Amino acid sequence: MLVEMGCMSVFETRSHGLGEAKPGRITITSTRTEDMDPAKYASAHEALRFVKKGMSVGLGTGSTAEIFIDLLGKKNASEYLELCCIATSKASEAQALRLGMRLCGFDEIKKLDAAFDGADQVDWDLNLIKGLGGALVREKIVDYRAEKFYVMAGESKLVERLSGAIPVEVIPMAEEAVKRDLMELGATKFETRKDGRRKFISDNSNLIVHAHFQSVEKPEKLEDEINGIAGVVDNGIFAHKKPVVIVGRADGGTRILR
Ligand code: 5RP
Repeated sequence: MLVEMGCMSVFETRSHGLGEAKPGRITITSTRTEDMDPAKYASAHEALRFVKKGMSVGLGTGSTAEIFIDLLGKKNASEYLELCCIATSKASEAQALRLGMRLCGFDEIKKLDAAFDGADQVDWDLNLIKGLGGALVREKIVDYRAEKFYVMAGESKLVERLSGAIPVEVIPMAEEAVKRDLMELGATKFETRKDGRRKFISDNSNLIVHAHFQSVEKPEKLEDEINGIAGVVDNGIFAHKKPVVIVGRADGGTRILR
């Protein structure tokens, strides 16, 4: 089935129905089923079918990626998939290890076969905002180096145009200077991400600044411009690598955008 939606092509629709993908019935080791969003579960479950034996796999970060890693860890063990994985955060790495998955590094593999990650926003041209979970640097390192980049997202993540908070990872001593430079690019307000009362420290020992943009007209250009600021490590616009987006619905159905 092919349906046109703006610039996105919806290539197929599927329904797991909640008979198959019933959040209340599955047994997950580290993800609490009562917290599970059915749309996120549906997209994570559907993503499993793109994993094949012997693949090198990038593991994303966030609640949708967490569901995926749990499901994948079990499938890896029960079906002897012999996957080798690179995680996009210390949290996802720890989860994969708990599930007995083999971790590898870029010393062992040149390119990942596939990466599976969540997103905060997906626009009609499949540009993304990612990193509101604080892991954008490792996510971009891994996701951009995957042969196939799959994004798992509930329908609520689909937007016509990217807007709002864009996370930017910043070297701590440059925080205020970077904020001034971001304002020149059109950012209207900022928050430095907090962890309780302290500033949040990323897995790479940096700060995360959320820079608000009213509307991102040219995502690729803004991604490059923000990264051109001295003191910025990377930012949460993912516009240079188009993903396959697995959209989950609350009723358990999914559709693929590419
Ligand atoms: C983390 C991310 C996440 O993928 C993004 O925030 C979506 O998270 P969730 O699946 O919990 O909605 O980019 O840095």
